[in-house]
Amino acid sequence: MPQQNTSFSSHNKQAIEILAVLGATAGAVNTTLQEEKHFTLDLHDAAQCTCLPWQAERQPDLVLLEPPTGDQDRLTVWLRELGTLAPKTPVLVLGELLSVGTVQALLALRFTNVVSLPLNQKAFLSQISAVMRVEAAPGASNSAKCWSFMAAVGGAGATTLAIETALQLHNASALGEKTALIDLNFVDGACASYLDVPANLRLGDVADAPERIDEALIDAFASPHASGFDVLAAARDPFGYQAINAQSVGQLLDVCCHIYDHVVIDMSRWMQDWTIDVIGGSDALVLVSELTVPALHAARDLATYIGSAVPHHGDRLHIVLNRMAKRVFGHSISMNDAQKALGRPAIGSISSDWDGAAQAVNYGLPIGQASAKSRISRDIQALISALNEKTSEGGALDNARLAS
Ligand SMILES: Nc1ncnc2c1ncn2[C@@H]1O[C@H](COP(=O)(O)OP(=O)(O)OP(=O)(O)O)[C@@H](O)[C@H]1O
Ligand SMILES: [Mg+2]
Repeated sequence: MPQQNTSFSSHNKQAIEILAVLGATAGAVNTTLQEEKHFTLDLHDAAQCTCLPWQAERQPDLVLLEPPTGDQDRLTVWLRELGTLAPKTPVLVLGELLSVGTVQALLALRFTNVVSLPLNQKAFLSQISAVMRVEAAPGASNSAKCWSFMAAVGGAGATTLAIETALQLHNASALGEKTALIDLNFVDGACASYLDVPANLRLGDVADAPERIDEALIDAFASPHASGFDVLAAARDPFGYQAINAQSVGQLLDVCCHIYDHVVIDMSRWMQDWTIDVIGGSDALVLVSELTVPALHAARDLATYIGSAVPHHGDRLHIVLNRMAKRVFGHSISMNDAQKALGRPAIGSISSDWDGAAQAVNYGLPIGQASAKSRISRDIQALISALNEKTSEGGALDNARLAS
């Protein structure tokens, strides 16, 4: 296999070893990196590499990949190989217009970014340092515990339970730990208005350049709630999903999972092309159902669909039954009946407390703050314990947040 080794700093122990498999941009990359003193470039011709020219004894600090023109499949193969060989090695892919398969393989890696072409030297170098910095950041390998909430039917209570969970995770966290509540409903998300904070998440502005989403930008997107956790929520926009894409959502969550210790996601139940990736990257998906026959059937069907779309995720999908009446009589459905209709056990139930829930949203507060004695808060505590137990049974997810 023809290969060209270019060493810019072979005597420097601090040299950053770069494995580059490049097509048309090889010359431009070489010129750019030649001007830098601290890179050692191991450059290969993409057209000659049906598989990665990987040497176990020479692990690179950074991988640059650009497939031969139009050969996305080859790029996907390389990324999948990296997923097995070195999922934590930072990777920059040169070129855009990635196929779905390529994006999925890319998102399965831990520290990645996409470099747009034609190559802009300054932007390229800053992307290299950004991706290396994230990898080197203290705690980078301890990414957040990430729980997602999705309603089986409209109004089942996903937003209410996600907010309350964020509050309680924040209250129970150690000093210095940070919690984020992220609203991924870009059309009519309610987290910002429920909590009376500004909706500052402008993901559409950077959707075409997701590499710009870094810690500083997340800081600008985040609205701190008085109770201590951050809210990332976009303003209502009937066309909100058209302005964003899978890469920007992936990068947003990836960076958040490095910044925060607890990430709670409020998801829309309308499937987007990134929804399954978000579910796959979550430590737990909580499907929120009401105790009505249609809602239970919707929860059962949604669980079945998600189970087939993310097969390895079965033990991370949990159904919670919201608005459980205090006493079951008349036409109410009992927990047992509900579980029969679901065809699976529920992880827990949340009491009905309309006054407590209404008081909270009217004051812009989580329920636990608006009415500390609400049964909803107590039940969320039990839900968190159950989820913690399940999450630790499954082991912490130390791999990609957004698995394919
Ligand atoms: N356990 C509960 N007891 C009483 N009221 C509740 C409970 N949970 C949620 N609610 C109320 O139900 C309504 C819908 O809740 P919420 O907005 O959380 O649902 P959702 O599933 O997020 O809805 P959407 O489909 O619009 O996203 C709100 O008025 C909320 O205050
Ligand atoms: Mg909601």
